[in-house]
Amino acid sequence: MGPFDIVIANGTVATAADVFAADIGIRDGVVAALGRGLTGAEVIDATDRLVLPGGIDSHVHIDQPSGEGITMADTFETGTRSALLGGNTMVLPFCLQERGRTLREALSEYHAKAEGNLYTDVSFHLIISDPTEAVLGQELPAAVADGYTSFKVFMTYEALRLNDAQILATMDTARRTGALVMVHCENEDAIRYLIDRHAADGRLEPASHATTRPTAVEREATHRAITLAEVVDVPIVIVHVSNGAAVEEIERARRRGMNVTAETCPQYIRLTAKDLAGMDWEGAKFVCSPPPRDEAEWENIWRGIEAGVFDLFSSDHCPFRYDDERGKLNPAGRSDFRHIPNGIPGVETRLPILFSEGVAKGRIDVARFVALTSTNHAKTYGLYPRKGTIAVGSDADIAIWDPAARTTVRHADLHDGADYSPYEGLEVTGLPRTVLLRGKVMVRDGALVGTRGDGAYLPRGPSAKVRRTARSP
Ligand code: URP
Ligand code: ZN
Ligand code: ZN
Repeated sequence: MGPFDIVIANGTVATAADVFAADIGIRDGVVAALGRGLTGAEVIDATDRLVLPGGIDSHVHIDQPSGEGITMADTFETGTRSALLGGNTMVLPFCLQERGRTLREALSEYHAKAEGNLYTDVSFHLIISDPTEAVLGQELPAAVADGYTSFKVFMTYEALRLNDAQILATMDTARRTGALVMVHCENEDAIRYLIDRHAADGRLEPASHATTRPTAVEREATHRAITLAEVVDVPIVIVHVSNGAAVEEIERARRRGMNVTAETCPQYIRLTAKDLAGMDWEGAKFVCSPPPRDEAEWENIWRGIEAGVFDLFSSDHCPFRYDDERGKLNPAGRSDFRHIPNGIPGVETRLPILFSEGVAKGRIDVARFVALTSTNHAKTYGLYPRKGTIAVGSDADIAIWDPAARTTVRHADLHDGADYSPYEGLEVTGLPRTVLLRGKVMVRDGALVGTRGDGAYLPRGPSAKVRRTARSP
């Protein structure tokens, strides 16, 4: 044994199962040994540090088509750079099928955007917005066979939403192909009704985004998505859950033995609807769907995290610049919330926020932090055990954390393409300091040392969730 290419020595290693003192020996980009007294060509001293699997953020939007006149703030270069400096080694963005277009076209355009521009590894989910017979019968099964083993459907957004019949048909393709369906649960017709009422009353400011998407529209859609999955008998992921009523729907489904995975995000434990009422249209910075709720809902989400309802803590990073005519303050959006693009940046702050609010404040332990931010993402999306853990044979995707480091979030210190952070001024404890991607040091003591192009695209296998049907306990 040894010497290794790199040894991470004297650290406290944490996986989703265990926390233990060990050196890690890395050879040819993979973890080759866990032990004591290992020797290597390079030794990184991790005394007083936590040595964690690199974060996997399985819900990010990068360079996604966003409608006429609107551009997402991140390219693959800036989005994956920001992810890396936030302690992540892999992200899963969405390849959007626009209506009237094929999956093949969408995928080849998306791959072209990513090619050569990656600082982390990536894999793509699909978004199905046009489930024609050809898409469900041929294109999607072929895509699943090629390693695009998960896709998202929307119950809201006029340009993306599927009706129940379309969702059932799309879920049926998942059942036949062994893919995993992710659902954005908000009732579009109810939202439309509320938007029309707000517009009739002249209530067009950003705060109306939150009042037109109350928790009831999310609760109903969550219940309906689960019901449709039960009818088809497929597992599902309910993404970006924001409130306790939706958590209860998921708990009820689980008690019936259903195979429902739930995801939540930093905005639902740190932001509130009051943020959307900021002065001078600043509330636009917080417009995302589902909208941030209130402090009582933060507690409901924490209860769900602590009780194990949530398997996944993702960012839903979906960045638009604020002061930009192709962003939040586009010509129509600066006077009417209906035209403010939905989404907020957060890929770089996801891990420090959960570490600080969860681990440093004693709500969750480090192993649960690893599960929520890395291991469960790898298992859910067909990447485990190559990704999401520190074990002999796994990729050496490792983030070395200083659990005592403190900082205040400032967008000026972040690395995405947006011009603000919704978490500006938030004090956090615990920061990733050094990050290795497949054994290569990419971030050293907080400074970027890796190169654009070091990241790679990875096809995926089937989800660990899919081996069970919707109903099997
Ligand atoms: O507002 C959000 N969340 N934008 C991103 C798209 C989505 O629904 O995940
Ligand atoms: Zn969504
Ligand atoms: Zn999203």
